[in-house]
Amino acid sequence: MKDNIRTNTRKRVLSGIRANSRLHLGNYLGAIKGMLALQENPDFETFYMVADLHSINVPYKPEDLKKNIRHVVLDYLAAGLDPSKSTIFVQSHIPEHIELSYLFATELTVARMLHLPTYKEKIKQYPDDVNMALLYYPVLMASDILIYKANAVPVGDDQLPHLEVTREVARKMNEKYELDFPEPDQFKTEGHYVPSLTGEGKMSKSVEGSYILLSDTQNEIREKLAKVPTDSGRGDKIPETGGVASLFALVELFETIEKKEDYKKQYTSDGIKYSELKSELAEAIYKELGPIQKRRTELEKDEFYVDNVIQESAKKARDIAGQTLKEVKEKMGLL
Ligand code: TYM
Repeated sequence: MKDNIRTNTRKRVLSGIRANSRLHLGNYLGAIKGMLALQENPDFETFYMVADLHSINVPYKPEDLKKNIRHVVLDYLAAGLDPSKSTIFVQSHIPEHIELSYLFATELTVARMLHLPTYKEKIKQYPDDVNMALLYYPVLMASDILIYKANAVPVGDDQLPHLEVTREVARKMNEKYELDFPEPDQFKTEGHYVPSLTGEGKMSKSVEGSYILLSDTQNEIREKLAKVPTDSGRGDKIPETGGVASLFALVELFETIEKKEDYKKQYTSDGIKYSELKSELAEAIYKELGPIQKRRTELEKDEFYVDNVIQESAKKARDIAGQTLKEVKEKMGLL
């Protein structure tokens, strides 16, 4: 692959998750499930990273970051990402991402970045820490994707505005410098928008009480579901927002759509017993998370395995990234 000329016709996939804390069901359903589906599809070549550079634009502790990077790799592997099929690496190990992002920054206006929802959210959350890296976040993300010329990006809906920026950069660079970047699309999973357990907005690492972690025990899951706000369990109209709607969404994602329809019928007839719904749901969620947790415990025993995976993958990623960067620098008159 030395010339970055595709030796095969497989489309490329790139995705990443920040390492700010342990992963939750939103990350799992919105991103990891899609990453797994594409890994198993022979038409795609898959690149999955830990977005550590995207984790340092908000206040953090270096010792925690180091641990969390490892946690994400372990969760990836435990969930089924397979280093013999996917290139699994750490973003900062491939410094070419940062270099290409600077070149991309020449094509994006500050005004465009100021209007992105993640930026607006974060400056509200950390008003004393409105740093340049936060504004630059989508530029780096565009570089993460385009440096591998990826066509498909398994991410949740909250990342759509960043994908739009990525497509814009690709178009502009192609027009101006005669490059051949693809305009990548979201690979959408069934859980592309996992609602919060609080009943307001999406499940998120930054909202306490909104999430179930991949590492939660069945008891912890039960306790968290017990706190989901509900109503009397009966009414003329099925709630479309709030805690009850979140429960229905999770029933569909972890049990079946038929089960959800059943509950809906009960809601408009005899009424729902939420204690039963929540207990069945906790069991269904744990049924999926239990085996992942077990595999993780096994993986943790071999302390060199993770290091080996990320070192080997970095070589492959760096080779491709370096070729793309060289191509862009040549076209831009830098080489
Ligand atoms: P991050 O770390 O915030 O989230 C990781 C992934 O989880 C998805 N996700 C959700 N999906 C459905 N419902 C939810 N409630 C939910 N919460 C989170 C996110 O959509 C995401 O797919 N900027 C990215 C990381 C990144 C990246 C990239 C992703 C950096 N470079 C290149 C793809 C390609 C982020 O902060 O994701």
